[in-house]
Amino acid sequence: MALSNYLRQERKRHLRELKELLSIPSISTDPRHATDVKRAAKWVSDRLERAGCTKVKIQPTKKHPIVYGEWLGAKGRPTVLVYGHYDVQPVDPLHLWKSDPFTPTVRDGKLFARGASDDKGQVIVHVNALEAHLRNGGCPVNVKFLIEGEEEIGSPNLDGFIARNKKLLSCDVVVVSDTAMFAKGRPSICYGLRGLAYIEVSLTGTDRDLHSGSFGGAVVNPANALVKMLDTLKDAKGRIKIKGFYDKVVKLTAKERTAFAKLPHSDARFKKSIGAPALHGESGYTTLERLWGRPTLDINGIWSGFTGEGAKTVIPAVAHAKISMRLVPNQRPADVEKKIARHLKSVAPKSVKVEIKSLHGGDAWVTQTDHPAMLAASRAMQRAFGRKAVFVREGGSIPVVATFDAMLGVPCVLMGIGLQDDNLHAPNEKIDLDQFYGGIEAAAYLMEELGAINGQPKKAKSKGTRKR
Ligand code: BES
Ligand code: MN
Ligand code: MN
Repeated sequence: MALSNYLRQERKRHLRELKELLSIPSISTDPRHATDVKRAAKWVSDRLERAGCTKVKIQPTKKHPIVYGEWLGAKGRPTVLVYGHYDVQPVDPLHLWKSDPFTPTVRDGKLFARGASDDKGQVIVHVNALEAHLRNGGCPVNVKFLIEGEEEIGSPNLDGFIARNKKLLSCDVVVVSDTAMFAKGRPSICYGLRGLAYIEVSLTGTDRDLHSGSFGGAVVNPANALVKMLDTLKDAKGRIKIKGFYDKVVKLTAKERTAFAKLPHSDARFKKSIGAPALHGESGYTTLERLWGRPTLDINGIWSGFTGEGAKTVIPAVAHAKISMRLVPNQRPADVEKKIARHLKSVAPKSVKVEIKSLHGGDAWVTQTDHPAMLAASRAMQRAFGRKAVFVREGGSIPVVATFDAMLGVPCVLMGIGLQDDNLHAPNEKIDLDQFYGGIEAAAYLMEELGAINGQPKKAKSKGTRKR
């Protein structure tokens, strides 16, 4: 039977199974959900076994388990390592969800649930694709799966696992579906991700909260001090003012800027899609350049003092902010963190104590678009979605991609099948069912296209990564 007919017949089951996985609240950051994360790992490993994988293993780590599985029945053919994550983000604010985040619900051709697009739906696409081949005459490539449960908390145990298991994970190409397509009907292959450096700053003024009448005016207010300090980080033109911040930044090439400009992006549509009154960013760059090719600095959270109902006259003892910076080649998280720490300490008044904690980070990654594996993915997307794929970069981060590139020395293909409006990390996350079913087809075709590459695919030329 033609593969596409088979896949059409299996749609109901594919949807049912995805709903099963999405019903498990595998929120990796929340210790109260640790057993749910384990349950999700078990579900994934059972599913890999049913799909035909052998050597399926749930590898415990210091926190959440890694699931591994393989099917190596295609002698002499390339080996594909599929990476993804089965953990999800928290769901709050819960009251903004139209249906319960862990009661997967179809509305208007879209399946709503936390993790639908990030990343459970996109992981299952590849499992279904392998199974489809195995049930229809065999798979044209060897396939290994590495599905982790800690991506949303910065993959603290993954680099170590990869370093210790280079042989187990040896492959010719890594495939990841954990990004979005450029637009519905516009398939794309992603060739770049931004890196990340994430810190938390705490200021302490006094050893306790104080009455703002009895003490106000005679002591520093750490909340006041903090906003002043944070205000020195960026200028009105969106430039980051930390000394040396841009030192290692690789400039966008003229060729890339031309390619970005040719993509069917509209600022007006973009603005409308996010309900913004106006766009804002570093001057001298277009929206896509700002999103994909320039570093950023953002306050992700800021808190101090009294935030409850009504008014309370208090001078808080402490003030905090969480600050993240998206990085581009060849910035390094550790270097950037050192520089921002130095900056914040230099602008802090003597009257506060400054503490800076590093949360997590990862290198940026940009690879070549003309690698045979990238062209194979582009053909697979075209076959599944009926239109030529465009090459895009992403503003988001998947730090392990740089690790694969550096540690395994193989090309990474990012074939995301999500959409820009999937509401990742937000209420009402969804996966469009056309994308899910089309994605299964694309994943199956990708296996065919990679299987047809003559000889072993060579390492891709990448920017941003370093040998490890
Ligand atoms: N799937 C996302 C990465 C992503 C986001 C790709 C947006 C495309 C568009 C991934 O699960 C994620 O959320 N990554 C985190 C980084 C991680 C270290 C917590 C991110 O980008 O904030
Ligand atoms: Mn993800
Ligand atoms: Mn995510």
